[in-house]
Order: sequence, then C-alpha cells, then structure tokens
Amino acid sequence: MAQRKTKSVYNCSQCGYQSPKWLGKCPDCQQWNSFNEEVVPTGKGAVHRSVTQSAAAVQRLDDIKSDVEQRRQCGITELDRVLGGGIVPGSFTLIGGDPGIGKSTLLLQAVAELGSGAKALYVTAEESCLQVKLRAQRLNVEAEQLFLLAETALDLILDKVKELSPAFLVIDSIQTIFTSQVESAPGSVSQVRDCASQLMQLAKQSGVPTFIVGHVTKDGSIAGPRVLEHMVDTVLYFEGDPGHPYRILRAVKNRFGSTNEIGVFEMGERGLIEVKNPSEIFLAERAEDSPGSVVITSIEGSRPILVELQALVSSAPYGTARRTAMGIDHNRVSLLVAVMEKKAGLSLLSNDIFVNVAGGVKIDEPAADLGIMAALAASHLNRCIPRRTVVFGEVGLAGEVRAVSRPELRVQEAARLGFERCILPAGNVKNLQVPAGLTLAAVRNVQEALDLLFDD
Ligand code: TYD
Ligand code: MG
Repeated sequence: MAQRKTKSVYNCSQCGYQSPKWLGKCPDCQQWNSFNEEVVPTGKGAVHRSVTQSAAAVQRLDDIKSDVEQRRQCGITELDRVLGGGIVPGSFTLIGGDPGIGKSTLLLQAVAELGSGAKALYVTAEESCLQVKLRAQRLNVEAEQLFLLAETALDLILDKVKELSPAFLVIDSIQTIFTSQVESAPGSVSQVRDCASQLMQLAKQSGVPTFIVGHVTKDGSIAGPRVLEHMVDTVLYFEGDPGHPYRILRAVKNRFGSTNEIGVFEMGERGLIEVKNPSEIFLAERAEDSPGSVVITSIEGSRPILVELQALVSSAPYGTARRTAMGIDHNRVSLLVAVMEKKAGLSLLSNDIFVNVAGGVKIDEPAADLGIMAALAASHLNRCIPRRTVVFGEVGLAGEVRAVSRPELRVQEAARLGFERCILPAGNVKNLQVPAGLTLAAVRNVQEALDLLFDD
C-alpha cells in the first residue's frame, strides 16, 4: 500500500496563522509561544472533500426564496437583539468567551426556550447528560422537545443530527469534538476548523440554525475561537469579570444584523438574568459624588466600551511630585498635565497625580485624553462631573481638541448605556447621527471643555 504523504505545518492557536517552521511569536497576532505542529496530508490524498461531493445547482437570484426574515425569537430579548432580531434559519453562530463565564448556561437557557416548541439538540461534548440535567434543574428550565447528546466524535454527532432532524443545534464546545478525517488532536487548529466547516455545511444544507461554543484559550495548545471568525456567520463574545456577576454579550461579526449591539446579563443563583437597563449597573459601581471620576469611551478592536477613569490630585509633601498611572500611559498623563498648565491655567506641576482606569481595563488610545484632563481638573478643583456625562477627544500640544475615530460607535454606545450628555471634539460632530436621548456638546479646545464641565 502506498504511504500517504504528509508534511508538518505550524499553526498559531490564537489566530490560525500558518508557517512552515516553528516561530516563537506570531507575526500576525503578536502572541508568544502559540505555534503547534500539525501534520497535514499532501499530494493526491489532500484533495478537499467538497470537490468530490455532488455539485450544487446554479440558481437564478429571483428564484431563490428569501427566508432571512423568518427569524425565530428565542425569548431571551438581550440575545435576540444581539443576534439582530432573532435566529435566522441556517445561521451558524460562534459564542466565544473565557471558560466558566457562562456560555453553556446561556445556550441551555436559550435552547430550553426554543425546545418548548420545536425540537432542539444540545450536544454536550464536555459534560455528561446528567450534569446538564442538574444544571437545567438549577436553572429551573423545562422543555419537552430538548434532546441531549454526550458525544465527541463529529461523524457520530452528524449521524444523530440527521436521525433526529432537530430545528436547533448546539455544539458545546467545538474544541472538544473531533473528526476522524484530520490526524491532529482535538482542539488543534485543523481539527477545530474542519469540524466547524462540516457543521457549517450541515447548517447551510439543512437550514438548521447552529450555535457552537468556543473557549477563549490562554495557553497555546488549544485553538481559540478567533481561528473560526472568518468562516461563521455571527461571532458573539461573552465577557465579564468572574469576580463580578455582570456579563456582556457582544456581536463582533454579524451577517444578519448590526455589530453595535450588546446584551447585558447578571449571573445569579438561578442562571443568567437579563439586565434591561445596563447604565444603572454601570453607574452603581461609581462612587457617589466623587470628584475626579469621569466616564470615557474607548474602542477595543471593533467594539466600543465605556469605562470609568479616576484621577486624584493631591499636594506633594516632598520635593518631586509623583505621577502614577494605572491602565494608561504615564507619559501621556505627564504631557496632558503640561498642556493644562500652559493652556488652561491649572497649575498641577507641583502636585502628586494618580490616574487609574477602574476595573483593571487598559486604554491606549488618544481619545482618552480629554477624559484624563477632565478627571484631573475635577479632582484639582474638587468638583464633580455630572454622572450621565461622557467625554472623549484627543488633545494636542496647543490645547486643541482633535477628532477621533469611530465617533458614531462611541455616541451610540453612550446612548445605549443611558448617558445623556457627550462632550466631544467639534471635528467629530459633522454628519454624526445623534442617537435619541443624548445631547452633544462640541468643543474646539481644552478651555472650552473645562468651561462646559465646571462653569455654572
Ligand atoms: P458555564 O455556563 O458552565 O460556563 P462556560 O460554559 O462558559 O464555561 O458557567 C459556569 C459558571 O457559572 C460557574 O462558575 C457557576 C456559575 N453559575 C451560576 O453562578 N449560577 C448558575 O445558575 C449557573 C448554572 C452557573
Ligand atoms: Mg461550558
């Protein structure tokens, strides 16, 4: 028998970057120590399966029935909204997040709602059926038409799906299932990609909406959900600090809706509860009437987030004043202090200055400049910035406030989180759609911003 030819490739487990040799740092996503060797067939044996399958028919665009609008609501409003208004037939959705954040809980709650009307199959490749049953009892969910399958072999899963023909399918998680057509271990980049592509084909051919869970991985041996982002229809990330009960569901990619939506949940004794008014919880964490606290907008990748920035200005008891910045570049803070001294007449040079981004977030974009200044001035003047005001803008050395990127995302997020006033660069206001409930105050320089905030 002829030996099957194979070769080694090295895949980055974070982003899927491929290299013929091992690399210490990924040139694409900059992750260290994320490359793993995988063996792939070459030569004749390597022909992709889809080429050998029966060809699809050519169809006229007019003849294709569009059922995109036949969305099914799963009853969890926050999830439905993030999905773009419900579940589209045949859609393939990836839910990523840190282990233990609540992905399985969210999906079990969602399919339980769906499974009360139509057949839903929940493939649990990590836990036993009994464990899922116990969780369902804890969540107090009952669904007559919800079926469980504890299986990790993809070929068997596909057979069962065909046998049961469910209306919804959940795979929890994509990193624990494997296909016999790929030689590398479950969780490797090629396994994860191949399993996902077979499930994707099933979803597209049968029209069964499919959700797959992907754990965000810290160590480089298991492929992360990013390696699948380009192939799926929708990518949702479930985020949150395990020490806090709040969880945010964000759409990073959505072929059937907007990616600006977020869903907020609270993890409680009985599972996830929707938080209808996230601004309340966000503001609840801020200290009452604290001078030196301001809310700024930041863009993380393609996602807007609002964070609280805190500054403390106190008189320096000794010769050299201290500058401490956590979550933000301290050189930037020193520069802004100098600009304030020169252009806004606030003398801070002989004060100790501490700046902190609450919640351990790191910000490295110039749009935070105006917020840093506002917080410093507020602490120095011992004045409070109104609670529902949000600030963003880049500050130049001449004290001018410059336009920043993605202003529409920032104001939409501020409006969504219940903010009422936004202080922003004048250069960003042109052609900007003002979301309902938000008043914009455009400023051209630092002095104007400080006058707006503290002059009454
Ligand atoms: P899980 O959904 O298993 O996380 P993932 O699938 O993302 O790994 O959630 C696990 C965490 O959620 C666990 O730490 C316990 C907590 N939890 C609750 O606090 N309340 C609940 O009702 C449930 C089901 C879980
Ligand atoms: Mg889980």
